[in-house]
Amino acid sequence: MKTLIVYWSKTGFVKKYAEWLADELEADIITGAEITTVKLKEYDSYIFGGSLYAGGINGANFIKKNIKEFQNKKTIIFATGASAAKTNIIEEIKNKNFTAAEQESFEFFYLRGGFNYNKLGFKDKILMSIMKWKLNRKNKKGEEITEEEKGMLAAYDNPVDFTNRNNIKELLAYLKS
Ligand SMILES: Cc1cc2nc3c(=O)[nH]c(=O)nc-3n(C[C@H](O)[C@H](O)[C@H](O)COP(=O)(O)O)c2cc1C
Repeated sequence: MKTLIVYWSKTGFVKKYAEWLADELEADIITGAEITTVKLKEYDSYIFGGSLYAGGINGANFIKKNIKEFQNKKTIIFATGASAAKTNIIEEIKNKNFTAAEQESFEFFYLRGGFNYNKLGFKDKILMSIMKWKLNRKNKKGEEITEEEKGMLAAYDNPVDFTNRNNIKELLAYLKS
């Protein structure tokens, strides 16, 4: 089985998972900037990985446009975010990005990444600074902020990395099944 891994990564977390997968599967691996519909046709199975930005999966547009290509091919999509892997959040991400019909064409996994403010581009730094300001304001007003939000605030000063090679085991088992 010839597998292609395509990944969209801004600060390296998705890239790390994609490379672990490529290593395990001896699969071809390329970035989202390099993928074309023509290239997809050369493979029997696909793994697409993208990071979460405000709930949206990086790369989802390409995936949605090419969903017809996945018929009769084993297709996996994984998303990587800073949040912990909770079942309700994973369902939310899936439903926000893909229709019920689209979801029939692939299996979805969530592989927890991390957060590195220093590696972000200019636009994302601004977005995250606004979010930080809002969270701090909430905190000062005595409004409740969640454990996740507290973790996010702490991560601005010290990058956090929750990636773990063990997280890919379930995905690998599905691909080999
Ligand atoms: C503007 C912005 C929005 C983000 N939104 C989310 C989000 O909705 N959920 C989440 O879990 N992580 C979110 N994150 C964190 C990234 O998804 C996380 O850092 C991920 O590991 C980045 O992977 P990458 O470096 O491969 O792109 C956000 C980060 C930024 C900069």
